[in-house]
Amino acid sequence: MHKSTILMWLLAAGCGCSGRRPNVLVLLVDDLGYGDVGCYGNSTIPTPNIDGLARDGMRFTQSLAAAATCTPSRAALLTARYPIRQGMVAAPYGQDVILFVAQRGGLPDTEVTLAKVLVNEGYNTSYIGKWHLGVSCETYGDNCHSPNNHGFQYWYGMPLTNLKDFGDDGTSVVTAMLPNFFPVMYAVLAGSCMAAAVLRGRSRCLFWLALLTALLASATIPLASNVKLINSLIMRNGEVVEQPIRLVGLTQRFVAETKEKLAEYKQQDRPFFLLHAFSKVHTALATVPEFRGRSRHGLYGDSVLELDWAVGEILAELDRLGLADNTLVYLTSDNGGHLEERGVAGDVQGGYNGPLRGGKGMAGMEGGIRVPTLLRYPPLARPGSTIDAPVSQMDLFPTVLSVAGVDAKTYVGDRVLDGRDLTQLITGQSSRSPHEVMFHYCSEAIHALRWVENENTTWKVHFYQPQWLPGTAVCHDICLCDMSDRLGRPHIFNIQTDASEQRPLDENSAEYGRVLAASRRAAAQHAATLVDLPESQFSYGNFMWRPSLQPCCRPPWCTCTDPRYP
Ligand SMILES: *[C@@H]1O[C@H](CO)[C@@H](O)[C@H](O)[C@H]1NC(C)=O
Ligand SMILES: *[C@@H]1O[C@H](CO)[C@@H](O)[C@H](O)[C@H]1NC(C)=O
Repeated sequence: MHKSTILMWLLAAGCGCSGRRPNVLVLLVDDLGYGDVGCYGNSTIPTPNIDGLARDGMRFTQSLAAAATCTPSRAALLTARYPIRQGMVAAPYGQDVILFVAQRGGLPDTEVTLAKVLVNEGYNTSYIGKWHLGVSCETYGDNCHSPNNHGFQYWYGMPLTNLKDFGDDGTSVVTAMLPNFFPVMYAVLAGSCMAAAVLRGRSRCLFWLALLTALLASATIPLASNVKLINSLIMRNGEVVEQPIRLVGLTQRFVAETKEKLAEYKQQDRPFFLLHAFSKVHTALATVPEFRGRSRHGLYGDSVLELDWAVGEILAELDRLGLADNTLVYLTSDNGGHLEERGVAGDVQGGYNGPLRGGKGMAGMEGGIRVPTLLRYPPLARPGSTIDAPVSQMDLFPTVLSVAGVDAKTYVGDRVLDGRDLTQLITGQSSRSPHEVMFHYCSEAIHALRWVENENTTWKVHFYQPQWLPGTAVCHDICLCDMSDRLGRPHIFNIQTDASEQRPLDENSAEYGRVLAASRRAAAQHAATLVDLPESQFSYGNFMWRPSLQPCCRPPWCTCTDPRYP
């Protein structure tokens, strides 16, 4: 039989006409760096299970996240759209990551997620693990942003993210970023109280200003010192079941939930879509005693070992249930390794990005967005193959729909999808990226772009440069998007041959002018598709902590354990 005839037949078999539509299992890791696992060149941390996935499936060497931080990256993966189209970008001087469970912003329920499409197509769907895309909008319990409202029939996991404060070593996200936060806040509080006392009866306006400042400071101090109390919790279908989170054993609970769902799905006629989002390998790091001290790279290395164990458990269950042959498994990380992350003792607690420059937070740099990505789907993906063409995590959505024989248009209508169907690349029918241009947004600004000119040449054009500490490629705690400078003359690299971004094109060459002109044209064309942008989900009103949205199990203690996991 001719190769393409076989392919047609395989695609037809997967389209629902014969009932065998693919199951989809996404394994989404948090902050895993490009150089953290064996199949991406790490020779000092054994990751046999993740490497096994690469051996039985395919490995992408240039797979890009749509953002260099959790929240916007995950929004893009689920919707195949740049975060800017969804309002998942910062307001001026703000941030684009959700910081409180009790804040109003999140993935708008007007967005069409992959789960919404698949559940409509008769799939069983679950979300297990870290969400980080918002919870409620108006009142606690409306769950407008929760997985259940985005197409997942079942969800168990952390609504926010793991945070330093959840551990017991006394570190905190606030003081990691702003070491003088508390002294400054107490000084502001004391100063404004004194000012209010002096100004009382002299200037009404200044008196109220001083009082307001004192009020703000006195509200901020308890919030910043109680990050764990308000944020460390686990939900099942929107109800708090565990507060605070017991970090040791969390990976095991996520694995138990996933295994249970897989076994249930085995009993159903329907295909399934399960997204397992690890809380690993984000700080606060913790592992069960079995992995403690087992790696050569401290608690971080131990955490990678536990992650690999978990991947192995899930894949073994898939095998045991006889589901592996018809399940598309996609493993990736939401952004690159967090280079600046340190523990109390100064030990490295963030990932390693191999030969790439920069890391988490730096969306224009390869280390921030290029992530380990593996895909296994026996009917189509050639075992052990490697794909060097640039691809995006946003491609998962259209690729899955294509393999499942679902017409995306029916669901997304005329909204712009930025992801592309990768089936031709996966089957080997084509070796060219379906993307001509990819934009590397840091929040609302395009920090860099890629232009795939041909198979051997992909240009990367940098418009911004992070404000690195002198002589390094890191910032103090993390490079936030606005901690960068716009370049007068963009830097251009052939990223296909210079992954480390070391050899920029000569600014006076004809090539430089040609590539820059083409990039500017592409950016202008892209800008024309950004119409009717929604309001930022991180505007001040959406971003602030709201008591009315605060979950608390068994008030006033806000403490409970899940009877399922005593
Ligand atoms: C493997 O990963 C660890 C943890 O990120 C890192 O410290 C180490 O340098 C890596 N080793 C190699 C050989 O790449
Ligand atoms: C699968 O989906 C169907 C239809 O929504 C539902 O009735 C069934 O309970 C689901 N099965 C599981 C195991 O969640």
